[in-house]
Amino acid sequence: MKINILKTADEIGEAIGKIFCDYVNEKPNAVLGLATGASPVPTYNYIAKQCKEGKVSFKDVTTFNLDEYCDLPKKHANSFYSFMVDNLFSKVDINFDNINFLDGNTDSVDESARYAKAIKDANGIDVQLLGIGRNGHIGFNEPADEFTDEAFKVKLTDSTIEANSIYFTDIAMPHYAITMGIGSIMRAKSIILVATGESKAEAVKAMIEGEVTPKCPASILQQHEDATIFLDEAAASLLKK
Ligand code: F6R
Repeated sequence: MKINILKTADEIGEAIGKIFCDYVNEKPNAVLGLATGASPVPTYNYIAKQCKEGKVSFKDVTTFNLDEYCDLPKKHANSFYSFMVDNLFSKVDINFDNINFLDGNTDSVDESARYAKAIKDANGIDVQLLGIGRNGHIGFNEPADEFTDEAFKVKLTDSTIEANSIYFTDIAMPHYAITMGIGSIMRAKSIILVATGESKAEAVKAMIEGEVTPKCPASILQQHEDATIFLDEAAASLLKK
């Protein structure tokens, strides 16, 4: 694991955004794994700006998002699909046919097989962007007894429901989601995780300095050969070194 500690969320967004843009300039048909939530927003802002200025094109890029709520229409304002359209897809020149999302409103077993095949047909994910939950989740792989492999339907924990409920004002937050499994995340050729703020410090410590355990799903990244972690000082504050 490579660890980078920077001062602000914007600096981190610029650093990660630059990695993505350089990658796409090098390989215009790159396959990118994307995350939602607050953590990747500065990265998406940087990419959108670069695209607007003609410094990168997402025309031939393919994307796979990590997760989606169950029992929520795809285009509902609170869906992760809408989040991605608002924060990135509407701001870059991506072909919407190349955007891949898990469907939380269909049979999860069939959906898992469909997503696994789509990722395989795309020759795998080149760079996977991740955030981390306060409980150490990546995607919506909540703390569990075993590491998962392909996508599956998950009951969200109270910690995740509490963290994400703030986004739901008109309706109650769904308690189930469908998420890429740990295996599908770990098969990405390169992984970049971003964590900012004090609320992530415990999870960051467990991910980097703790044992590799499904009780802290992000700890598995210790075993990835190309995982880079971007932290601000608050998120890094409990690290020993
Ligand atoms: C989102 C996702 C989650 C978030 C995590 C952190 O697609 O998979 O694992 O990355 O919950 O969320 P924020 O960034 O909002 O703190």
